[in-house]
Amino acid sequence: MPSASTITLNSPLDMHLHLRDGDMLQNIAKESAKTFSGGIIMPNLVPPVCTKEEVVAYRARIRDAIGDETFIPYMTLFFKPEYDHAFLESLREEITAIKLYPAGITTNSEGGVSGFDIETLRPALEAMSDLAIPLCIHGETNGFVMDREAEFVPIYEKLAQAFPKLKIIMEHITTKASVDALERFENLYATITLHHLLITLDDVAGGMLQPHLFCKPIAKRPEDREALLQAALSAHPKVMFGSDSAPHPREAKEACGCAAGVFTAPIALQVLAELFAKHGAIENLPDFISNNAQRIYGITPPAKKIILEEKPFTVPTSYGGVVPMYAGETIDYSIREVMDG
Ligand code: NCD
Ligand code: ZN
Repeated sequence: MPSASTITLNSPLDMHLHLRDGDMLQNIAKESAKTFSGGIIMPNLVPPVCTKEEVVAYRARIRDAIGDETFIPYMTLFFKPEYDHAFLESLREEITAIKLYPAGITTNSEGGVSGFDIETLRPALEAMSDLAIPLCIHGETNGFVMDREAEFVPIYEKLAQAFPKLKIIMEHITTKASVDALERFENLYATITLHHLLITLDDVAGGMLQPHLFCKPIAKRPEDREALLQAALSAHPKVMFGSDSAPHPREAKEACGCAAGVFTAPIALQVLAELFAKHGAIENLPDFISNNAQRIYGITPPAKKIILEEKPFTVPTSYGGVVPMYAGETIDYSIREVMDG
């Protein structure tokens, strides 16, 4: 029987996940599939996932990489303004959401959107609204790095107002400004990563530079982290966990010109359990990790029970050449057991 120091989670979901492709996919997909019931799979491959055939083929490669783990890859398409109603209708059943990247803002986003002219975006966004396809947005301008997300908030608001029936998910929010925006529009939602609940810019660049904590959007100020923490720990009904676990080979991170992305998939549940327990908020973790996402996206993931226990776990220094967050350090919770059904 699980003792008092265990935490049981049902069907955890990772609503923002990079699984990559090729050898990297083969190496890291299981790290999510072992402990999560499903995840929203980001489409920023090279080239990006833009057609029905590409979605279907990518899902098949993911399924191959995860083997017999119980895990649903909820697929996304890379947003293009030229998508029309007929095209989107033809692949509605294959996707769970569409991801919009401003052009060039992050890893493999060169083919994204330049300018946010409502009339240019209207046909595609009205079609998505009509077909009830949620729009996930990487909300950053190309302004000063610490201000990019806050500068994007008026664009979120413009879109939320122009397309009131479209569910808009502000991905991996990092600022108090974004948390506050959730209250102003019914159709705005958000994902929050693990690392943005834990670190500020000080942890990335305040001492010796920490390339494995460098990501987009960059971690912000203590008051921003505090606002994110409050939203997550209180299980704000419009907020979901999305790890943004974004693996890059060690050489691409420990380089002159460090790739953006923090790899958290193997430790996400353990560290979230520790964080919520530390703040006396463990009863709210199920909403943050699964229930809110199920309600917002209207999805029912496969049944899976994860039992975590308060027992030290030393994080491996590498998973197939990718350095995870907390590499070589000891965290307080371990996965004791995973049960399907
Ligand atoms: C992501 C990646 O590497 O694909 N990087 C990151 O820093 N988060 C892309 C993204 O979500 O911005
Ligand atoms: Zn991402």
